[in-house]
Amino acid sequence: MDDMATMIGGLSGFLDDKDIITDSTDMAPFLTDWRGLFNGSAQAIVFPRSTEQVSALMAYAQTHNIRIVPQGGNTGLVGGAIPDNTGSAVILSLSRMKAIRDFSEANMSMTVEAGCILQELQAYAEERDLYFPLNLAAKGSCTIGGNLATNAGGVNVVRYGNTRDLCLGLEIVLLGGRVMNLLTPLRKDNTGYDLKNLFIGSEGTLGIITAASMKLFALPKARSTALVGVPDIATAVTLLAKLQAASGDSVEAFELMPATLLEVVFKQFPDIPCPLTPLPEFMVLMEIASTNASDGQPNETGQIPIAETMEAFLADGFEAGQISDATLARNDIQRQQLWDIREHSPEATKRESTPVNTDVSVTRSQLQTFYHLAEKEVHKIHPSARVCAYGHLGDGNLHFNLIEADGGDPEWPEKRGALFDAIYRALAMVGGSISAEHGIGQMKVEQLKGVKDPVALDVMADIKALFDPTGILNPGKVIAAQD
Ligand code: FAD
Ligand code: LAC
Ligand code: ZN
Repeated sequence: MDDMATMIGGLSGFLDDKDIITDSTDMAPFLTDWRGLFNGSAQAIVFPRSTEQVSALMAYAQTHNIRIVPQGGNTGLVGGAIPDNTGSAVILSLSRMKAIRDFSEANMSMTVEAGCILQELQAYAEERDLYFPLNLAAKGSCTIGGNLATNAGGVNVVRYGNTRDLCLGLEIVLLGGRVMNLLTPLRKDNTGYDLKNLFIGSEGTLGIITAASMKLFALPKARSTALVGVPDIATAVTLLAKLQAASGDSVEAFELMPATLLEVVFKQFPDIPCPLTPLPEFMVLMEIASTNASDGQPNETGQIPIAETMEAFLADGFEAGQISDATLARNDIQRQQLWDIREHSPEATKRESTPVNTDVSVTRSQLQTFYHLAEKEVHKIHPSARVCAYGHLGDGNLHFNLIEADGGDPEWPEKRGALFDAIYRALAMVGGSISAEHGIGQMKVEQLKGVKDPVALDVMADIKALFDPTGILNPGKVIAAQD
């Protein structure tokens, strides 16, 4: 590897000076993750503005053996965008590649550059009467490139699938600088191996995503949102199927939120109103939507059809003993107040404690078994640990998180490791996944080795070696770094 001055000189050959930073204060926000769990160092952060510049950087990186760590909005939760502490890496930030290259109403697709912020893409589509349904609480900061690189999930997966399901095509820059053009907006394309899907979810270890063609949908014009108390998780799973049937399969979100979580959210964010008193032990935030505007307007009897559908579903649930309490949002403000509870959940648990955070998935039918098994295993280790779980119930995806006892717990730091193990013991009993939607990053590399099929791990290493034979592309992420 060249010395630093030579390398920076080399990089500035094809980047504007203002698109390279090397000052440690300026670099600091890019070198630590959202939870503050991972800290790294870097020689420089570069901000290419075009695919050509990324290509030149990737050619230079290969020739000069420079470690490259791709980064989007740096909202990832497994340390994937944070370099190690050797200080040898260059962070390649896509955040200044923000062009929308194409928007097609006829094809219902948009071709966008990797650094586009998710929320801005949602708004761009909505202004044109179309819908981009990927949605997560980090939407104001995360980028579409990061969403693709992690195959992000979020709150609307139950209806529209993961980021993978929303992607039609990709433009990828390989190490060495070759640009692989898979940027077709075609809906069907069975021409050989599915390379696009190899890169989605590869967390920046195989190549740099510079642009993507994404699917759009009809824009929902009417919504009904409710926070519903349920006796247990298994009943909530039953209710999901019922609501899907009752609403013409238009369930947009179905999020589990236990009382233990809401107590923490209201403590940390006292301005968010509490919608149900007393809080049921388990609640589901559910939303149905219709693309037909008249479903959201009063009909001849003064009723709003989509609200009627939800009310009938709730009444049926009360009668069947499947629902204990419910509140229905009557307007956008009330709807936002309900979503505020869910969207502030990661921040609230972070403020309350240094949580034990997980991102597990099981089959929907095993959610209840897993939840109580995990609770039991956890309390065997540390009875005062508070389960503060939430998650995408419709996808069998729980963030089964733990926080320390109210008022603090001196034993918490030393217990955290054993508490993680307790949760994963329970997960192994039901055959779940250690990462439903956040990826592996640097956080779960060792753990992955213990749970993934060994043949699959070998094939992953072979694929990595094909695209990155010297191990300089996001080293130490997903699979162990080469020595
Ligand atoms: P970064 O964090 O910058 O990078 C993530 C990974 O992708 C890294 O490995 C990085 O090297 C790689 N990468 C980034 N851009 C590129 C590129 N262009 N080409 C190649 N590799 C690249 N995730 C969910 O799935 N569901 C949720 O509901 C959810 N909610 C969240 C809520 C909060 C409050 C926060 C802080 C995070 C949440 N996340 C969630 C995690 C995170 O937002 C997602 O993983 C998101 O997709 C990351 O996007 P990013 O642009 O911030 O990527
Ligand atoms: C969420 C993140 C943590 O669901 O994935 O809020
Ligand atoms: Zn999530």
